[in-house]
Amino acid sequence: MLDYKNNMLYIENVSIEELAEKHKTPLYIYSMDQINRNIEKIKKVFEDLPLKIVFAVKANNNIKILKRLGDMGIGADVVTIGEIEAAKRAGISFKDMVINGNAKTEEEIEFAIRNDFFMINVDSPDEFEIVEDFAKKLGKKPNISFRLNPDVDPKTHPHISTGLKKNKFGINFEVGYLLIKEAHKSPYVNFKGVHTHIGSQILEVSPFYDAFTKVKELISRLKRKRISLEYYNIGGGWGIDYKRTGEGLDLNEYKEKVIPILKSMNVKIIFEPGRFLIGNAGALVGKVLLTKINEGKRFIFVDIGMNDLIRPSLYDAYHHILPVKKVKRPEIVADIMGQLCESGDKVAEGRKIPEMEKDEYLVVCDTGAYGYSMASNYNSRPKPEEILIEGDKVSIIRKRETINDMFSLIPD
Ligand SMILES: Cc1ncc(COP(=O)(O)O)c(C=O)c1O
Repeated sequence: MLDYKNNMLYIENVSIEELAEKHKTPLYIYSMDQINRNIEKIKKVFEDLPLKIVFAVKANNNIKILKRLGDMGIGADVVTIGEIEAAKRAGISFKDMVINGNAKTEEEIEFAIRNDFFMINVDSPDEFEIVEDFAKKLGKKPNISFRLNPDVDPKTHPHISTGLKKNKFGINFEVGYLLIKEAHKSPYVNFKGVHTHIGSQILEVSPFYDAFTKVKELISRLKRKRISLEYYNIGGGWGIDYKRTGEGLDLNEYKEKVIPILKSMNVKIIFEPGRFLIGNAGALVGKVLLTKINEGKRFIFVDIGMNDLIRPSLYDAYHHILPVKKVKRPEIVADIMGQLCESGDKVAEGRKIPEMEKDEYLVVCDTGAYGYSMASNYNSRPKPEEILIEGDKVSIIRKRETINDMFSLIPD
């Protein structure tokens, strides 16, 4: 979606320099075309399977984007009342919402039951009791699945690994088996299936293969007890090509190795993509404020801070960086850092990059997922503006926060 025309960087058909001049930086920009292309890729992988897509709202909670997804029939994977509200305001029906979370509040559980959510993914035996109690009290029969922990290594950053037994998510298979037998007989819930989400930014097919194989064995075991499942929610987790080396999850291999297992389960699939659906459809535009050389070490200081994009500071995440203006100049190795009062406030460290000058614009690529949604007001910095590009149309989909907005909750 990003390309140079006459040596200037464009998002689809729109000049990024013009966007930056008009809307100021830091500025999140998204391409609807790229989102559509990503959705098509997902549908192609699952083309022979009954599939329900629920977008992981935690990856990007912009209501205007959620609205476009909802219009395409995509539901929402939500984990808080705030995410439920975002999806609701986007016009996504409760009947298309799946609620996740390892420690849902009673308010969240009650809300999901009262409003007939598509599914409640129960994360522990105690939570099952709470769900049953509320269901009894409210005279409702919610659809439930159990989130299982398959204890497989997703080979990703430890902070975004969720399917190892040491991780806080899900129920081990033995306990899960017993709970399923109980739920199957329960007059208070509709037992619908199981859920696994083993981590995020997963680049290899084998962890999915291992997790799905374990689930398949469980399904066979349950079948022998005459218990059948309607749904298997396979979570999200598909890794994308942040490094521009072709490292993203190989979807051909996935289709070849993993889809046959899912098919053999004879269940409907729920998929909860976040990063894959929107990660590469977003970019963050910034401006060089200053440069510095300290005893040979070079710094490029930009107006993008860890408050705008925390992934490099939090996970040492790599994001590709492109200058908006392509001119012949020497390549240097520099640390690209924000203005915040933290040594870890970085966009990139030791990065080979064309030498850049004060007031030049640059683009941090692949920031559509876990970018704005993880932004904060640290150092009392207002959050950036967000813009959606649809063909030649440019729409502000979230205004830049003001200093007044930031302090609006303080009483007189
Ligand atoms: C339960 C659940 N489903 C889906 C996702 C989306 O994951 P990803 O963005 O890797 O697709 C997450 C993210 O953490 C999650 O916790």
